[in-house]
Amino acid sequence: MTDIGVAVLGVGVMGADHVERLATRITGARVAVIADPVRAQAEQVAGAVPGCRVVSDPLDAIADPEVHAVLIASPGAAHEKQLLACLEQRRPVLCEKPLTTDVATSLEVAVREAALGLRLVQVGFMRRFDDEYIALKALMDSGKLGLPLVLHCIHRNVSPPPGFDSSMVIRDSLVHEVDVTRFLFGEEIDSVEIITPAPNPAAPHGVLDPQIALLRTVSGRHVDVELFVSAGVGYEVRAELVAQHGSAMIGLDSGTVSPRTLRNWGSRVTPGFRERFAAAYDTELQRWVDAVRAGADTGDYTDGPGAWDGYAAAAVCAAGVESLHSGGPVRVQLADRPSRLGR
Ligand SMILES: NC(=O)c1ccc[n+]([C@@H]2O[C@H](COP(=O)([O-])OP(=O)(O)OC[C@H]3O[C@@H](n4cnc5c(N)ncnc54)[C@H](O)[C@@H]3O)[C@@H](O)[C@H]2O)c1
Repeated sequence: MTDIGVAVLGVGVMGADHVERLATRITGARVAVIADPVRAQAEQVAGAVPGCRVVSDPLDAIADPEVHAVLIASPGAAHEKQLLACLEQRRPVLCEKPLTTDVATSLEVAVREAALGLRLVQVGFMRRFDDEYIALKALMDSGKLGLPLVLHCIHRNVSPPPGFDSSMVIRDSLVHEVDVTRFLFGEEIDSVEIITPAPNPAAPHGVLDPQIALLRTVSGRHVDVELFVSAGVGYEVRAELVAQHGSAMIGLDSGTVSPRTLRNWGSRVTPGFRERFAAAYDTELQRWVDAVRAGADTGDYTDGPGAWDGYAAAAVCAAGVESLHSGGPVRVQLADRPSRLGR
């Protein structure tokens, strides 16, 4: 089979990164079309990829006859329209998180996909493709540590991008731990509580940072997450599982323990998500391309996190934002999972 043609919608930080990995490291696919309203940016990124065209309208890119699959890396607000167009054209699609920006439209995507009887949508929860998270899940599933009980997580950034507000700490940062919790424990989250300690004086004006999220799964497991987007040190994503017969930690930078200062702790603190999860993004894309190529036989164009996972994460984050405003735990309201119709 010849390489599949991929359209990449949005070539900012993530999209340009994905174009580069599709063009250089991923086998079985080529970037056929790029669409970005900033034409100069689209042309610059396309210029490094032989045979890649730039089109102005993302919907034309989705419908392009050379395109077999779509990678959405546009801002979250553009995702809904682009996802629905992919479903209408029956195009397999890898959509960066968030699936959409609200719960109702995320559910709509999951419902419309289920009605087609196909698995066309993958959402970009790349931690599921990271070696350390995969190893932790394998350890949990092996039963060696006994019953998993508690997960302690840390998610720190050097500083937030411009325009970041308190609810984005939940929707943009916590969303990853929400998916990790569902992935590791294999169950839904029942309630969320957000605690807001005294804010860091270095946080942007008005942003409640750090925040502590307390998640409770339907079977009563506890997950706590320290979210700290203006930590000023590096990109620190850790998780420690506490189980019946022991514990296990992932996300430690290599080197010896020493005081943490700007980008240093004896060795080097990982500076950002592109460095920390570079290998996971590669694996995510290669597995997606392989699934898209195999999908014509099965109707499953992904074996990764799908539309339902994107919807469930949106519902948990919405409850988190409600807790941020009201205080106290908020129950997560999940719709019935739409069943996939026969093909
Ligand atoms: N999985 C992760 O770890 C991760 C990390 C960062 C960002 N993201 C997600 O990736 C997506 C992109 O984030 P980013 O950091 O690359 O943003 P960015 O602002 O750097 O880039 C977005 C690009 O999309 C273009 N764009 C705007 N409207 C568009 C539209 N309607 N159609 C096509 N392109 C459009 C912009 O011109 C820009 O070039 C977001 O959904 C974000 O949440 C995921």
